[in-house]
Amino acid sequence: MFVCICNAVSDQQIADAVKAGARDIEDVQEVLQVSTGCGTCRQTAEAIIANTLVQTATGRNRQLQANDIATLVYAA
Ligand code: FES
Repeated sequence: MFVCICNAVSDQQIADAVKAGARDIEDVQEVLQVSTGCGTCRQTAEAIIANTLVQTATGRNRQLQANDIATLVYAA
């Protein structure tokens, strides 16, 4: 779905930019120019960035928990 009509930027492109290392709207703008036109998409773009950061952090936490459990099992 296009989030930024002015620059033809989709929600998936924003999420991919975050997964590639972008951490805020300014980082994503450097790559995709999202919200550099009329600006009406900024709030939605920021919500997608925040949501992707949470999803990424949650995934990492799950991975760490699985690794921690495996370490405990093998150490016992
Ligand atoms: S819709 Fe994104 S800058 Fe206009």
